Amino acid sequence: MERSLIILKPDAVQRGLMGPIISRLEQRGLRFAGLKLMRVDEALARRHYAVHEGKPFFASLVEYITSGPVVVAAITGNNVIATIRNTVGATNPSQAAPGTIRGDYAVEIGRNLIHASDSPENGEKELALFFAPNELVELERSTDRWIYE
Ligand code: RTP
Ligand code: MG
Repeated sequence: MERSLIILKPDAVQRGLMGPIISRLEQRGLRFAGLKLMRVDEALARRHYAVHEGKPFFASLVEYITSGPVVVAAITGNNVIATIRNTVGATNPSQAAPGTIRGDYAVEIGRNLIHASDSPENGEKELALFFAPNELVELERSTDRWIYE
């Protein structure tokens, strides 16, 4: 079982794309264990993107993610990291395949709409940064069976 942190970045909220993006993840069959609207302050942004510290785009990345409200979600399930990354598309939307979220809704790498964890380890770390344990629901077995049997 893997867990992924999804962030609908400020451009997704500002452009009115919360619904369409959540729909794509939901309709693919992915299961949400947490969902909320929030603001990311500079300290949280720096921790979330610590791996990119020192890169030329780091400052603009922090500015971007803190520029307005975001929606964060927790998605759990087998192989969800790869499944979600495939649904999201390439980091640079201009190279993202049509049919992916970035490939259908974005053109700029600095406004690529959505974050998704890139490994199970990072999924766990990122979820701990954005969600308190009591904000994540336990998924019911009946839901598992409905989707997978
Ligand atoms: P994310 O973390 O947001 O899900 O995106 P990702 O894994 O596809 O890409 P990553 O390499 O982790 O980069 C994080 C975010 O930094 C911005 N970026 N800008 N100007 C650039 O060359 C550049 N490279 C990355 C993007 O907003 C990317 O999503
Ligand atoms: Mg990344």
